Amino acid sequence: MCHTDLQKEIRHLAEAKRAVILAHYYTEAAVQDVADFVGDSLALAQQAATTDADIIVMCGVHFMAETCKILSPSKKVLIPDPAATCSLAESCPGDAFAEFVRQHPGHKVISYVNTSAATKAVTDVVVTSSNARQVVDSFPADQPLIFAPDRNLGSYLNSVTGRNMLLWDGACHVHERFSPAKILEQKALHPQAKVLAHPECKAAVLRLADVIGSTARLLNYTVESDEDEFIVVTESGILHEMQQRSPQKTFIPVPPEVSEMPGCSCNECNYMRLVTLEKLFRCLRDESPEVTLPEELRKRAEQPIRAMLRLSK
Ligand code: 13P
Ligand code: SF4
Repeated sequence: MCHTDLQKEIRHLAEAKRAVILAHYYTEAAVQDVADFVGDSLALAQQAATTDADIIVMCGVHFMAETCKILSPSKKVLIPDPAATCSLAESCPGDAFAEFVRQHPGHKVISYVNTSAATKAVTDVVVTSSNARQVVDSFPADQPLIFAPDRNLGSYLNSVTGRNMLLWDGACHVHERFSPAKILEQKALHPQAKVLAHPECKAAVLRLADVIGSTARLLNYTVESDEDEFIVVTESGILHEMQQRSPQKTFIPVPPEVSEMPGCSCNECNYMRLVTLEKLFRCLRDESPEVTLPEELRKRAEQPIRAMLRLSK
């Protein structure tokens, strides 16, 4: 089937089954185009918490589908490809992290939403890149804090909040690959362009950025700004929505420092790209693969996510 036919079939199935299709900005354009809602990880969690659909299909990575199940336990949650994990979530196994927390009594624990339910279960408050600063600031200045798993986001938060949070040593394989040299190359070619970067990038990259923020914040900036050109230092899937919202503006992806694909000018999350229209179609048709969780674990993981949602209203 061609893309257009598949998209029609997917919409037909979604309506017949009362399913809502949620997609992250990093998925491929054809998947974003067929979704009911496209957003950053905070907005996707907020949608999952409030939807009245019977089925939630999460076109994103596994922790995002798990978050849907944690927040909407009575709904069937489907993921087109369960192999779509996340290098940050993988870098922080629940048992090792629980031991790390035990070794640091007196600390409150803040975890990025890019974690497994087991890691969230030993967390006080979850954050996304949209609300991380606000959540960190909500703790008294003298409260010792642990932040996991992204050392780059953690260092960035330490620098802007003046904290000295203890950091877990994880990183995103996509954002780690951006280098100052490649950004400077693009700046030389496009001197007027604003540099937009996700806070999962290394400090040396963030120092070159005009705007640092979550995918939603970077997108909103491109819509609201009077500027015409943007160098985008995050996963290249976001360029689709940026271009849709501002067709007259120019968006320049930054190539990774070491590209596995000769001639590749973009930076893609290989996990997000496992989500294809074909898999989405089969997953809706067969109502499988489904994401489930033991109830005791689900409840423990729910508390820190609810704490985040309360702080993000
Ligand atoms: P956002 O919180 O900006 O959606 O980012 C999620 C993510 O996986 C970044 O790599
Ligand atoms: Fe995880 Fe990085 Fe992919 Fe985001 S881009 S889902 S942090 S591996």
